[in-house]
Amino acid sequence: MGNDDIIIDPWGSAQSTDYDRIIEQFGLTSLSGQSLASPSKLHRRGIVFAHRDLDVIQEAQRKGDPFGVLTGLMPSGQMHLGHSMVVEQVKWFQKQGGDVTIAVADLESQATRGVSLEKGREVALNEYIAHYAALGLDPDRTNVYFQSTRPVVQRLGFQLGKRTNLNEFESIYGFGGETNLAHVQAPLVQVGDILHPQTEEYGGLRPIVVPVGVDQDPHLRLTRGLASKTNWFNLKDSSSKGVLINLSVHDENAAIFGQMPNGRLDKEKVKAMCDRVVSAVASLGFSDIISSPKQGHVHVPSATSRDKHGIRMALLALERNLGGMGLLAPSSTYHHFAVGMTGSKMSSSQPKTTLFLRDDLASVEKKIKRAFSGGQATVEEHRRLGGNPDVDVAYQYMMYFFEEDDSFLAEVNSGFRSGKILAGEMKQLCIERASAWMSHLHEMRDQTAHSVQDFLATDSR
Ligand code: TRP
Repeated sequence: MGNDDIIIDPWGSAQSTDYDRIIEQFGLTSLSGQSLASPSKLHRRGIVFAHRDLDVIQEAQRKGDPFGVLTGLMPSGQMHLGHSMVVEQVKWFQKQGGDVTIAVADLESQATRGVSLEKGREVALNEYIAHYAALGLDPDRTNVYFQSTRPVVQRLGFQLGKRTNLNEFESIYGFGGETNLAHVQAPLVQVGDILHPQTEEYGGLRPIVVPVGVDQDPHLRLTRGLASKTNWFNLKDSSSKGVLINLSVHDENAAIFGQMPNGRLDKEKVKAMCDRVVSAVASLGFSDIISSPKQGHVHVPSATSRDKHGIRMALLALERNLGGMGLLAPSSTYHHFAVGMTGSKMSSSQPKTTLFLRDDLASVEKKIKRAFSGGQATVEEHRRLGGNPDVDVAYQYMMYFFEEDDSFLAEVNSGFRSGKILAGEMKQLCIERASAWMSHLHEMRDQTAHSVQDFLATDSR
C-alpha cells in the first residue's frame, strides 16, 4: 500500500469524496456510460456511480431468474435524507423483481454505539422501518430481521472467520493492536448478513445485490473474498481460449476430491469429480469439454465470458449437492454522498447539516434558507459571474432528493450558472419542492404506520 492510498473506515467520520480514485484503487467498475433499464434519478444523474458485478443482477433480470437485494440499517439516532438514498435504490430493485432482505444491525449498534438490543428494536421499527414503509417499499416482498435473533447470520460469520486473519483486517480496515474487537466481530456478522439470503432456508442460491455508500465497501471486499475462498470450483479465463474450471481442495472436500490423508491423490476420485463437473457444464449445452483429472481441471474452450455466470451458478449448485456452501460473491452498487447542508459532511450528530425525515416544514425552510450557497457575494456579481450549482446545497438537494424532472433540473442548472437565477431564488425553488416532498412523506407515514409489523420476517415478529 502506498502512503497516499485511501483507507475507507466504515465507522469513521472522515470520508473521501475522490470517487475516481476510489474506483481505481478498489477496483470498482464505473457506471458512467453504461446503459441501465429504466434507471432511477440516482442512476440518471450519476449519483449511483459504480458497481461490482451488477451485470450478474441484470442478467438475472433479463432472464426472469430470481435475485435478491440486501441492505442493513444501524438502529441509532434519527433517519435523515442521506439514509433515504439506499431505500430509493432498494425500492428500484424491488420494482424490477428482486426480493428484499433488510438487516437491522442491532448487534453492531450495541457494540459500536452502545445502543441496547431493546432500544435498537424500537428505533428500527418506529424510526427506520416506519420511513421505509412511507417511502414506498412493499411489505409483501420485504423481510426485516435482527442480527441478534437470526442464528445463521452469526454462524456464517464465525465459520467464514476461519478464512481470514488480522493481517487482512489490518489491510482492509487499517486496524492495529489497539482496535476494539467489536470492530473485528461486526464485519464478520455483516458478512453473515450479506451471504445468508443465499442459504436454502432464506431463498436459496441466487445473486444478491447490496446497494451502499462507499463507506461500506470494505465489508463488501471482505465478503466477496471470503465467499470465493470457500468455493470448491474456481473459474478463470483459459490462457488459450474459453474457460478453465479448477478443483479447489479444502478440508471439507478433501475426502471426496480424492486427497488422501497421506498427501497422495486417489486418481479415481479426482476423475469422478471432474466427470461431475463435465456433466454439470454439459447440462448447460456445451459439448466440447476437456477433462484433465491429472491437472485437476476441466476446460470449456467454447465458453465465452458471457457464459461464465451460468457456468458459475451450475458449479455452485453442484458444490451444494456435494455438501459445500456454494456461495456466490455478492454484487454491489455505490452512491455518492449528498453534501451536508452547511457545505461540510452530512452528519446525524450535527442537525444543521441535514434534514431529518421528521423535521417539520418550518425547520425544513429554515435549514434550506441557511444552507451553503453556490452564489456570489452580491447580486451584481452573481449576475455578472454566475453561480456554481455543483456546490450549491439547494440545487444539490433538488438533484439528489426532491426533483424528478431532469429537463427542469438542467434548466435550473444553466440558469444558475449564467447568473439568471439568483441564490435566493434557487433556495425558494428548493423550499417549495422540499416542502411538498416532506409533507407527502409525512402523510404516507401516517397512512402506512399500520403496516410496519408486516415488514418483519416471521422469525422477527
Ligand atoms: N454497517 C452498516 C452501517 O453502518 C449496517 C449494516 C449491517 C449493513 N449489515 C449490513 C449494510 C449489510 C449493508 C449490508 O450502516
